[in-house]
Amino acid sequence: MAESNPTVNEEPVFKTVQELIAGGEQLSELERYVHRGSDGGFLDVSQPEMVTPLIDLGRLSSSSPAAGEELEKLRSLLSTWGCFQLINHGMTAEFLDKVREITKQFFQLPREEKQKYSREAGSIEGYGSDVIISEHQTLDWIDRLYLTVHPEDHRKLKFWPGKPENFREILHDYITKLALIADELLKALAKSLDLEENCFLGQYNRETAKLYARFNYYPPCPRPDLVLGVKPHDDASAITFLLQDKEVEGLQFFKDGQWFRAPIVPQAILVNLGDQVEIMSNGVFKSPVHRVVTNSEKDRISLAVFCIPDSDQQIEPVEKLVNETRPRLYKSVKNYVDIYFQYYQLGRRPIEAARI
Ligand code: OGA
Ligand code: NI
Repeated sequence: MAESNPTVNEEPVFKTVQELIAGGEQLSELERYVHRGSDGGFLDVSQPEMVTPLIDLGRLSSSSPAAGEELEKLRSLLSTWGCFQLINHGMTAEFLDKVREITKQFFQLPREEKQKYSREAGSIEGYGSDVIISEHQTLDWIDRLYLTVHPEDHRKLKFWPGKPENFREILHDYITKLALIADELLKALAKSLDLEENCFLGQYNRETAKLYARFNYYPPCPRPDLVLGVKPHDDASAITFLLQDKEVEGLQFFKDGQWFRAPIVPQAILVNLGDQVEIMSNGVFKSPVHRVVTNSEKDRISLAVFCIPDSDQQIEPVEKLVNETRPRLYKSVKNYVDIYFQYYQLGRRPIEAARI
């Protein structure tokens, strides 16, 4: 989920999952990860695979007739699944492998090295465990490194690993590319609905929007039938880019009452919409509910990049998408990420807070 700066005071300091495992599992500590009763008892991790929805960025942005077909595909995918696999995005397979590599290498560093970048209790930026908002919270089986990455003057470099040596450079290059792709996609979203090209991009406001990177590490888990890597959620972002592990699956999307496995497409970046585009589109586009399941054999990494409008930016349904057959579904909101966390804490679907 996208977390920019929720206020979580008095958070107890908690071990990362890697530390838990290294220290030998204490049953009392593992209890905090166990989902009871959700999904009607045990978690069923073996779900059907979703049809691989590919979108070709080159075609989408071209002026050839192929663009029209690609836009229609985009519209159809985003109004049903809310996600797709982006290909032909201008980054080579080798480069994406480097991004995966720095992610792996960071989590493989000795504990003392990683701890130099530890987040402080009550704050989200840096290296650490799942953020603990309430003592009743079921914890996610995940360690992460969370960084503000764009614009450059918002970076807090003290949390940026100095090892592996190319970490900062690769991350910088990756983010620079994604910031441009986010603009292109937001334009394409508008075009796919025959709307003026800037109607989503204008609210997103690329001048002030922020990008956050969440490096995720999922250690092998002894009980995939009881523990989740990330519990079901939708993202608070406008758009999320996810670079998945090349070998190990885990991500699942919820659609029509059922979970579906997201397949691995090594050269693709998985894009999913967040709540803020669902609001802007008056519900035409979906912010999908998704989760991550664990497995007992292999560890898994991923890198999520959340593109989030500035907290002062007003977000509301585009006027042209409100009419008699589609009444206005959402209010105008500001600082949606804060609203998101208040609701998340109550165990409610955050976008309900923006509903009329
Ligand atoms: C997230 C998320 C999916 C994954 O970080 O919000 O949904 O596969 N991650 O790690
Ligand atoms: Ni997510």
